[in-house]
Amino acid sequence: MCGIVGFVGRQGDALPFLFDGLKRLEYRGYDSAGIALAGQGGTVSVAKAQGKLAVLEGRLGTLPRAVPLGIGHTRWATHGRPTDVNAHPHTDCHGQIATVHNGIIENFQELRAELVAQGHRFVSETDSEVIPHLLEAYGGDRDLLGAVREAERRLRGAYAFLAIAASQPDRIVAVRRSSPLVIGLGDGVNYVASDVGAFLPQTRRALVLENGDVALVTPETVEIQTSEGTAVHRAPFTVDWDMRQAERGGYPHFMLKEIMEQPQVWSDCLLGRVRGDHIEAGELGLPWVQRKDVRRLQIVAAGTAYHAGLIGKALIERLARIPVDVAVASEFRYQHPVLEPGTLVVAISQSGETADTLASVSLARHLGAPTYAIVNAVGSTLARESDYVVYTHAGPEIAVASTKAYTTQILVLTMLALELAAERGRPRADLVRALWSLPALGEQVIASLASIVEMARRLAGERDVFYIGRGLDYALAMEGQLKIKEIAYIHAEAYPAGELKHGTLALIEEGTPVVAVVTDRAMAEKTLSNILEVKARGAEVWAVVDGALPHDWPVDHLIRLDLPDPLLSPVLTAIPLQLLAYWTAVHRGQDVDQPRNLAKSVTVE
Ligand code: M6R
Repeated sequence: MCGIVGFVGRQGDALPFLFDGLKRLEYRGYDSAGIALAGQGGTVSVAKAQGKLAVLEGRLGTLPRAVPLGIGHTRWATHGRPTDVNAHPHTDCHGQIATVHNGIIENFQELRAELVAQGHRFVSETDSEVIPHLLEAYGGDRDLLGAVREAERRLRGAYAFLAIAASQPDRIVAVRRSSPLVIGLGDGVNYVASDVGAFLPQTRRALVLENGDVALVTPETVEIQTSEGTAVHRAPFTVDWDMRQAERGGYPHFMLKEIMEQPQVWSDCLLGRVRGDHIEAGELGLPWVQRKDVRRLQIVAAGTAYHAGLIGKALIERLARIPVDVAVASEFRYQHPVLEPGTLVVAISQSGETADTLASVSLARHLGAPTYAIVNAVGSTLARESDYVVYTHAGPEIAVASTKAYTTQILVLTMLALELAAERGRPRADLVRALWSLPALGEQVIASLASIVEMARRLAGERDVFYIGRGLDYALAMEGQLKIKEIAYIHAEAYPAGELKHGTLALIEEGTPVVAVVTDRAMAEKTLSNILEVKARGAEVWAVVDGALPHDWPVDHLIRLDLPDPLLSPVLTAIPLQLLAYWTAVHRGQDVDQPRNLAKSVTVE
């Protein structure tokens, strides 16, 4: 998703900060990038390039130095292809005003037609380019803030943008309408960015803009107003996490680092919430949930977070006997959902900025349902816009492919299921006590998986792969197939193992790769039969199984895991599936941390 950075100083050189800031936002995913600087008078100077930041770096020599005002952008294409011209910043007709934009301007066609009729010349295919032209039309070269306020009344959509003007070298005007924007407070210099990571080396003091805020940022001051012009105060806070946490720590990819640190983040997630054989209900907001008289849960999420929701459904229904529905957020928001009284809407998200999940929560609130969010990114929009929030404490997740955020989401859902079960007279003290064994078991699982590197080498030559499982194992298979699709670019499908014979079995032939997940002891015999079905048709099978199962496994590549109760096993079983996808992608030479066409934080629908 697009990344935004801005620098406004009394003096100094904006360029090094802007470029480094963009590098720190690379994890969000992008296809082009650019920087604009505005000195005293003249016109704004712009450098932009399709592709990685290294390409942009090669063009920075065209920009002036020692200019203390500038904005930068990494673009993830939505309207118009990823090209040099479509990259941001965009400028007005006379190169006086430059803007960078994240999100979507829904009424850009209407605005563009109107501006073209007035004589404005557009050069890109983007929705974003209407912004500098609109600012030009409203006199932004004389009064940038006034023009932004005027423009705000015309723009429709979910977005954030920064604007600078060559004639006003002491200011950035920043607007937040749905897409996140934070201001970093320095000494004689202020910063603006899509997230705090961009300016952490410079300052830890920050403030978050709220939806509808228009901020005038100068080297010394930050004045915030609503779009109607009412002054508002946003309290500054100190960022207490370290950017070093987000560095690769010696691993070749963030994804591998994040897989390996799962046992540690599981401890962080359990800390303060699980003591002996009881769960601290207050830490999960259960007293609040009880007051809402909850009788049904509706989970909404996207991608991997949706897959965590499927595990949550199985656990909550089995342990607490409370009905749970799980919906993909992009569907939920448009399906006219029926939320009966007593339904708690549970939104799950790593970033807390996923547009569809946010819209689902907003719809749920509109329909009068209480909303409960399971979120990783502290201070994110979802965290702030839900009635109650529980953090997963996975730390910054940089790789686009979600790993540690997924397993901590599962852990929070497991604690929730166990505590809801206890409150409904179905305590499982044995499982609660066993939660603290998971970090150590996770270390053991990781240590036992050296052979997966070679198993993945075999898979790397394939074009298609099926994943099968039953119950919780099917939910895990869904996540396994998403991982291999998104980073190894191998077509993958997950099926309930018992469903193959209803059609998909026709596709199994000599050499077809199948990954089977078998950790649910009660269903193991049945899944074994399904493995035999595909083997009989020539499939090559990779199997991830509970090592305690007594069966002989007629498979080609066997991964035995030392697992506890099947209800606690999903976080452990996820690890070999993540590593299989990771090593397959590495063998295929793919860009593991930033897969093509994907973004870390999907802030458009
Ligand atoms: O930030 P979120 O958890 O809301 O993101 C949801 C999905 O976009 C995300 O899980 C995506 O599917 C991951 N890239 C999968 O690895």
